[in-house]
Order: sequence, then C-alpha cells, then structure tokens
Amino acid sequence: MKMIWLIILSAWFIGYILIGFLVRCWTKFTNRHFESNNINLKGKTVLITGANNGLGKGVARFMANKGARVIMACRNMKTGKAVQDEIIRESGNDQIILLNVDLSSFRSIHEFCSKVIATETKIDILIHNAAYAGFIKKAVSADGIELTMATNHYGPFLMTTLLMDLLKKSAPRRIVVVTSKCHSVSYFTPQNEKHLNPIDCWLPLYQYSNSKLANLLFTFELARRLEGTGITVNALHPGTANSEIWQTESRIMNLSLYIFRKFLRSVNESIQTTLYVSLSKELENVTGKYFRNCKLGKTHKIAQNTSSQKILWKESEKIVNQINLGLTL
Ligand SMILES: NC(=O)c1ccc[n+]([C@@H]2O[C@H](COP(=O)([O-])OP(=O)(O)OC[C@H]3O[C@@H](n4cnc5c(N)ncnc54)[C@H](OP(=O)(O)O)[C@@H]3O)[C@@H](O)[C@H]2O)c1
Repeated sequence: MKMIWLIILSAWFIGYILIGFLVRCWTKFTNRHFESNNINLKGKTVLITGANNGLGKGVARFMANKGARVIMACRNMKTGKAVQDEIIRESGNDQIILLNVDLSSFRSIHEFCSKVIATETKIDILIHNAAYAGFIKKAVSADGIELTMATNHYGPFLMTTLLMDLLKKSAPRRIVVVTSKCHSVSYFTPQNEKHLNPIDCWLPLYQYSNSKLANLLFTFELARRLEGTGITVNALHPGTANSEIWQTESRIMNLSLYIFRKFLRSVNESIQTTLYVSLSKELENVTGKYFRNCKLGKTHKIAQNTSSQKILWKESEKIVNQINLGLTL
C-alpha cells in the first residue's frame, strides 16, 4: 500500500515538474524583449497604478531609470514608501511621487485625482496596471460593487474620466491598459445587469476574467472616443508572470502554486509588452489595439463587439456617478 502511494506521489511530482518545465520553455521562447537603449524619458510624466508590487514596480523602476517623473498610485503606502525609496536610491531620480489610491473606492479615486490635478501640469503616459484577483472568497467594495469589477474596471474607468482634461492638455499622450489573455474564457455581457455588479457570483476567480474582458471593451470604446485628440489607448497581456497576483486565500493552493510560480515569467520578462505599448515609437499613432509578446494580439471576438463596448461605457458612467460620495470637489 505504502509503495502505491509512493509511486502516485512520485508520478505526481515528476508530472508537476515536467509541466512546469514545459511552461517555462514556452514562456521563455515566446517572450520578446523591448529594445529600450535609446529611450530617454526626461521631461515625461508617467502615472502607474499598483507600482508598489509585481509588474507595476518593475515598470516604475524602468521609467525612473530612464529619467521620467513617476507617479506611483498605490493602495499600500508602507510597501509603496519602501519601493519609492528603493527606486530613488537606485536610479538617482528624485522625481518619484507616491500617492495613495484605493481603486475599489470611488471616494479614494476622486481624492487621488484631485491631488494629481492640483500638482501636475500634464500626464504623458497613464498605465492602468493594478488589479485584484479574488479566488474563493466573495467580496464587495465600500461602494457596494463586487470587488474584482470595482478594482479592475470601474476604478480605472473613473480615474480615466477624472484625469481626462489633464490628459488632453498636451498631446501626444498614451493610455495603457494591462488586461489578460484570460479574458478569452469570460462570458461577460454588459447587456446583462447582473454581470455589471456580480455580487452573487459563485466563483470570484471567474470575475477576474470578466473584469479583464471589461478592460478590453473599455479600451476599444475609449480609443474610438479619443480619435483625433492625440491620445492613444491600447491594451496588452503581459504574459503569465511570477507575481503576487497568484496569492490566494487558500494556504493549500498557495503551497502548490509556490513551486509552479517559479516556472512563470520573471517580472522583468513580463513588463516588456507594457514598456513596448507605453514607449515604442512605432506605436505613436496606433490606437484601439491589443498586444501580446510585443506584437499585435488577437482578442476574443466578444471584446470586439461595438454594441457591448458602448453599453459598458454608458452603464459604467451610471454606476460611478450614482454613488453619492458627499464630496465637495
Ligand atoms: N502576473 C500574471 O501572471 C498576470 C497575467 C496576466 C495579466 N496580469 C495583469 O498584470 C497587472 C499587474 O499584475 P501583477 O501580476 O503585478 O499583480 P500583483 O503583483 O498582485 O500586483 C497588483 C498590484 O495592484 C495593486 N492593487 C490591487 N488592488 C488595488 C486597489 N484596490 N487599489 C490600488 N491598488 C491595488 C496591488 O497593491 P497592494 O500591494 O496594495 O495589494 C499591487 O500593487 C494586472 O493588471 C494583472 O491583471 C498579470
């Protein structure tokens, strides 16, 4: 009996390592590097959400090293401050600003944007990078919105609309939306009221895919609305990377993911497409597109549905405006 268990466990372990190894070969083989030697960002302002961790931290560090003024929009001010200090020390660039924002809270976004508008004269690149992925535990934001949709879609939507005048001040500008390939398994339909605020969803993890499809619908609608303004809007999948997004509420799941994460792309490999979409000269006039591995990617066809894009925009406007924040801005 013991022998059988030993064989099963060994087979499971070998299979796990083998799959991990194949995943690593695939992610390494498909990853493309953005050629950044000639990039100089002196005089440019880059706003990036979720800059205290994972891919956002990698992008913030890169932008700082290239001389940009970087606005780190972070929820966790303790890790945010540590990363700000680290980036200033490493890059010698003291134009690294740390501001607090909780993307799941409309009030917090209003307060954040008021500060940005009061202190900044322009934003050259706005990178919507932060995201939340719940696995099993259902959660609702302070505004009564399902937490994944609140953080990943309504938050960036509201922030973009509030910063629009500042963005429009002097073109060219870029808005970059970090989405995910897993939008392909989404069933999100903005025509269905329950999908817009899925507080009764049975599996919060699935909401992540839905929110990432919403990111694409938002990107394509915004790009159309901004045509001719000099502001481009593009979305991207960064690749599957070893970051904190893989932390779940389940210890057992975290343990089994712990080794698997080692086979995924590193942060540095994974930020290449974000850098490409944010900085590449060849994309200067390209808008309303989706990128993967530093080249054009294919979205699921429901992301291309113009009617869904328009409906999501209208419904999002209603949702972010209907919450009475009692603010005097
Ligand atoms: N890693 C992957 O395999 C992968 C694959 C496809 C797409 N992506 C996308 O890549 C982007 C970056 O993810 P990552 O892998 O770097 O994940 P991560 O390491 O978990 O970082 C997520 C960042 O978002 C911030 N965030 C979460 N909720 C927030 C809120 N309510 N308000 C403000 N900030 C909040 C986190 O801040 P705290 O530190 O406060 O939690 C953290 O800084 C995301 O858009 C994700 O969907 C990642």
